[in-house]
Amino acid sequence: MCLCIYLTAVQGVQTEAVAKSPQEVFGYLGENITLPSGVDPSWSLIRIEWSIFTNNTWIATYRNGKPNTEHFLQYTGRLTLNTTSGHLTIQNLKERDAIEYTVDLLNSEGEDKVNKIKLTAKQKLQQPLIQIVASTSVESGCLMVVTCSSLDKGVNLSWSVEPVSVLSTNKSHPSDSSAQLFAFVNTKENFASFTCISSRDTESVSSIPVTPKCESKIC
Ligand SMILES: *[C@@H]1O[C@H](CO)[C@@H](O)[C@H](O)[C@H]1NC(C)=O
Ligand SMILES: *[C@@H]1O[C@H](CO)[C@@H](O)[C@H](O)[C@H]1NC(C)=O
Ligand SMILES: *[C@@H]1O[C@H](CO)[C@@H](O)[C@H](O)[C@H]1NC(C)=O
Ligand SMILES: *[C@@H]1O[C@H](CO)[C@@H](O)[C@H](O)[C@H]1NC(C)=O
Ligand SMILES: *[C@@H]1O[C@H](CO)[C@@H](O)[C@H](O)[C@H]1NC(C)=O
Repeated sequence: MCLCIYLTAVQGVQTEAVAKSPQEVFGYLGENITLPSGVDPSWSLIRIEWSIFTNNTWIATYRNGKPNTEHFLQYTGRLTLNTTSGHLTIQNLKERDAIEYTVDLLNSEGEDKVNKIKLTAKQKLQQPLIQIVASTSVESGCLMVVTCSSLDKGVNLSWSVEPVSVLSTNKSHPSDSSAQLFAFVNTKENFASFTCISSRDTESVSSIPVTPKCESKIC
């Protein structure tokens, strides 16, 4: 009996895997991520089985009206199963959670559906830091040099300068995730604010803006 159910599940999974590629979901390490069951909202679910690995190791199930999210040690205390939608939420996402998941759904009409979700975990970008290297009063204005650095590798660092009339030029050093900005702020402007933006793919995060004070020339 048990073996028979197991074989049916495996069969279903294999057919599905050939039929369509898994849905891809991205999550950030240390945060919560919800894996969608892909259920038709009109379905009234009577059984939900979330599993991992090719041997269909259960991690969360809903059977005979009882949810169970404590099947597998790796996920202990980190899973929430919505028994209406079939969605599975993983808390405090870890690197080793980034695998393929299978959900087997059964509705009150006896219809069965198997979906696969491939979870990818990403490290959230860290906020870049600006340091003021120089801020020296010169004839008719102020010369400012600031550097930006990020602890992340492979990010693009760019600058936002206010007001836009400030003359600036910049240099970036992708190899060590740093960038430099040279600006000339004339006496009329008398003020400049610099923000560094770290970006990777579609994600970006801004530094705290800095507004260097112009130091008078050292005599
Ligand atoms: C993740 O979910 C738990 C439980 O619902 C909640 O306490 C926690 O604040 C959430 N964490 C984040 C980063 O949203
Ligand atoms: C299922 O596969 C996983 C990973 O390959 C393995 O660690 C686990 O022991 C297997 N479980 C059973 C019941 O065979
Ligand atoms: C479970 O999913 C249903 C349907 O999507 C939703 O209405 C409900 O708010 C969810 N419950 C929780 C506890 O998130
Ligand atoms: C930084 O340098 C790039 C490439 O030379 C340029 O396109 C960009 O406008 C500069 N940004 C600032 C704020 O000077
Ligand atoms: C950095 O910027 C360049 C030029 O805009 C782009 O080709 C590259 O994909 C970016 N890299 C990342 C990691 O976002």
